[in-house]
Amino acid sequence: MQRRTYALIDGNVLENNVKEIISKYPSYKYYFGVVKNNAYHHGIRIVKDLIKGGVNYLCVSSLEEALQVRKYDSRIPVLILEPISLDLIDDAINNKFTITIDSIDYVNKLLEHDLFNTLKIHLAVDSGMHRIGYTKAKELSDSYKLLSENKNILVEGVYTHFGTNGITDPYYNNQIKRFLDITSGIDLESIPIVHLNRSMTLVKHPKLEIENGVRLGIIMYGFSQSTKLQGGIKGFINKFKLERKQKKYNITNVILENDLKLNTAFSLYSEVISVRKVNKDELVGYGINKLMEDGYIATLPIGYADGVDKSFKYVYLNNKKCKIVGDSMDMLMVFSIDKPSIGDKVEIFGDNISINEVKNNTHLSSYHIFNNISNRVLRIHKNGDKKEEINY
Ligand SMILES: Cc1ncc(COP(=O)(O)O)c(C=O)c1O
Repeated sequence: MQRRTYALIDGNVLENNVKEIISKYPSYKYYFGVVKNNAYHHGIRIVKDLIKGGVNYLCVSSLEEALQVRKYDSRIPVLILEPISLDLIDDAINNKFTITIDSIDYVNKLLEHDLFNTLKIHLAVDSGMHRIGYTKAKELSDSYKLLSENKNILVEGVYTHFGTNGITDPYYNNQIKRFLDITSGIDLESIPIVHLNRSMTLVKHPKLEIENGVRLGIIMYGFSQSTKLQGGIKGFINKFKLERKQKKYNITNVILENDLKLNTAFSLYSEVISVRKVNKDELVGYGINKLMEDGYIATLPIGYADGVDKSFKYVYLNNKKCKIVGDSMDMLMVFSIDKPSIGDKVEIFGDNISINEVKNNTHLSSYHIFNNISNRVLRIHKNGDKKEEINY
């Protein structure tokens, strides 16, 4: 290990998270693990833990990401969520990847291609997010017909992606309706896999009868998405506002709280590489950060290029929370009343500073916090006592 900054990824935690989700939501046949962008930056090696937990399909963004999965598992089906360039079709076939198709133009071009072996495809429906997917029932049914006639194409799935969670907005229900309209020209029951929900919508709504697959993203990484309304006057007002919106949009059956027991698997550490004594009123770092008392500055080899800056507010050093008083591209400066030593371990988040605390301090979502931790931060994968460095 070179730079003393690393993320520790706990594989057992991820495996148990998946087991817990499946045990509480057992009615699906296909549990897709969404592992885009290096498994939400946990390192693609974790696909082995997710598979042990029970995930039986994976989703990635691109062919390159799908190839990364194949380094760790040669058999699991992998769905590429973005339509890929037609020059990559041979690679998709050779590696048994499933591709997304989202327009009749794509189908026509694909059918000109020499499909030398079976190609599995999932049809994407645009139910309202307007990112990718079919918008017209006729184009979808024509595509389905054309694809089904080709002996080397297996239309294995149909899916959509929801833009909202539907707790206080009418769009979740509208999007289901639009999905049903756009797929009305095909027999959904004849399609092996129908998948609509993602983490948040899985836990907030009853299971949809038409679907037998669900795409698990942030929930697998430790976020149950349970919403507990606070007590007191604030809670009362929030409940009132929520119920007013639900009544307005005729929203019923939303499940706010769930009892999923999940844990985050990603902790981040650095260490002290320089120490200096400083006095009250001295300035630190870029900009004017005036010190309020005498103490020490501990410098850490992690900065905003690694995805961590002053907005994180605190780190955990020698059993205390210490304030981040300066940041830069590669280093953070932390204030400590007690004298730290070179080599002292520092937790950026983990057992003592939770990701939820970082979320509150930075106003970033968990998706952004993980995805911002750059690839130059070494990932160490842990499974029980076994530790393994992961190279990107
Ligand atoms: C198509 C698709 N499905 C599922 C997911 C997973 O979403 P989440 O992490 O909210 O479960 C994503 C993530 O961006 C996605 O793009």
